[in-house]
Amino acid sequence: MQRLAQKWRRAGQRIVLVPTMGWLHEGHLSLVRRARKIAGPRGKVVVSIYVNPTQFGLREDFSTYPRDLKRDLKLCRAEGVDAAFAPGDAEMYPRPPGAEFSTLVAEEKLSRTMEGASRPAHFRGVTTVVAKLFNIVPPDAAVFGAKDFQQAAIVRRMARDLNFPAKIVVAPTVREPDGLAMSSRNRYLSGDLRRQATVLWRAIRRAQDTVKEAGMIPAVKLKANLKRFIGQEPDARLDHVEFFEPDTLDPVARVTAGTRMALAVFIGKTRLIDNARI
Ligand code: PAJ
Repeated sequence: MQRLAQKWRRAGQRIVLVPTMGWLHEGHLSLVRRARKIAGPRGKVVVSIYVNPTQFGLREDFSTYPRDLKRDLKLCRAEGVDAAFAPGDAEMYPRPPGAEFSTLVAEEKLSRTMEGASRPAHFRGVTTVVAKLFNIVPPDAAVFGAKDFQQAAIVRRMARDLNFPAKIVVAPTVREPDGLAMSSRNRYLSGDLRRQATVLWRAIRRAQDTVKEAGMIPAVKLKANLKRFIGQEPDARLDHVEFFEPDTLDPVARVTAGTRMALAVFIGKTRLIDNARI
């Protein structure tokens, strides 16, 4: 990948990277299309496909995370992707005796709240692997999804703090017709759980409607209301809901138009996240 990217760079071709963990869906493909727009017809679009072990907690779904490289490569080809980079664990995190991988990249402010509070080492794993990808490829730009709003903010901060030249682009969340944000983890949901999963989007709409009517509402009051609302689904359990400034991720006491809302909900054993502008 490094040699290929060097060759492209020497030929003056712009390189745009879309990092993924595979099991590609329309959300991922929308990022690929955005990457193509940025790269232009002569530029190069690289999709990385790697289920990164360092961003999963011990009790999380690393081993069961859906994988199908063949299918992913087919989808990449159909989108005109120039290179799919799908390294193995031994390549990304080599473990020769006495010289195991031991360097991590950690963002230490934006990573503390929300997903970072619920999943302690998660963002450290994300920034480490994204930093590695940025060094392997050196992309001119990298495209991330607003679906993982906090992740995009953290990657942008890391790129700025560590002088990665890549421009960080954030593309909108792609949803199913019933509002459920597309996610590789939706694959875990069937039957009534799949129906219950729409409660994240319904909670977002409820918050938006409430603020539209009231103009302003205290965050604590709206959170309590949404917790009750989500609890009406038999298999749903709210992990967290937060209202915050989109630029700083600082929590707000009063929710108004323009506030960002993010939530994580367990549907049975599956943990889903979503977010939107209020
Ligand atoms: P993954 O969950 O595969 O997502 C890859 C990219 O696709 C992320 O930028 C994510 O925000 C975006 N994405 C996922 N679902 C989307 C949707 N419904 N609409 C728009 N974009 C969507 O996020 C990761 O992988 C990893 O943490 C990674 C950045 C690759 C590092 O390992």
